[in-house]
Amino acid sequence: MKNYKLVPMDKSHIKEIAQIEKECFSEPWSEASFEEELYNPLCSIIVAQRPDGAVLGYAGLHAIMDEGYIDNIAVRKDYRGQGIADDLLGAFIRFGQANLAFLTLEVRPSNEPAIQLYYKHGFVQVGRRKDYYQHPREDAIIMTLEFERENENGTETAE
Ligand SMILES: CC(C)(COP(=O)(O)OP(=O)(O)OC[C@H]1O[C@@H](n2cnc3c(N)ncnc32)[C@H](O)[C@@H]1OP(=O)(O)O)[C@@H](O)C(=O)NCCC(=O)NCCS
Repeated sequence: MKNYKLVPMDKSHIKEIAQIEKECFSEPWSEASFEEELYNPLCSIIVAQRPDGAVLGYAGLHAIMDEGYIDNIAVRKDYRGQGIADDLLGAFIRFGQANLAFLTLEVRPSNEPAIQLYYKHGFVQVGRRKDYYQHPREDAIIMTLEFERENENGTETAE
């Protein structure tokens, strides 16, 4: 049985999120940036939280009109490989199916675990941004998941 639940980020999570962020990324978001996002109506950050409140992973999404931009998704090293990222991404995909035309994100070509995660959930490579990342410098692969939506006639369309 899973020993965590998905909850919206609140202030109590920010210290641990920023710590995980530092361990995972060479240009991490600061505690202040996460705190700002608490008050941004376009942003939602969900947390995989253990019953004692500990943060095991998190994922952030900006939704602008019907476009969804996944900013970050990360899981604590000692809790990887247990399906936590699957659950976090799955929550955004369910939201996207109901509300968005697509979800998109950037990922380092060297980040095989993340690329496999996105493939597993139906994302496809749609482009590349040259030298997008620093430390170390690397291109970004752009991956997108488009949602089929019902048009006025009730038939499904892929937009
Ligand atoms: C990428 C990351 C979020 C995956 O988290 P996780 O909770 O361990 O992933 P899950 O256990 O939910 O695995 C889901 C799927 O991801 C892929 N995956 C996860 N770890 C993998 C690995 N080491 N190698 C290859 N594929 C992997 C697989 O497709 C897996 O599905 P499967 O178990 O059916 O094969 C985690 O490795 C992480 O936090 N990395 C550092 C931060 C990061 O790079 N984030 C992405 C930025 S774009």
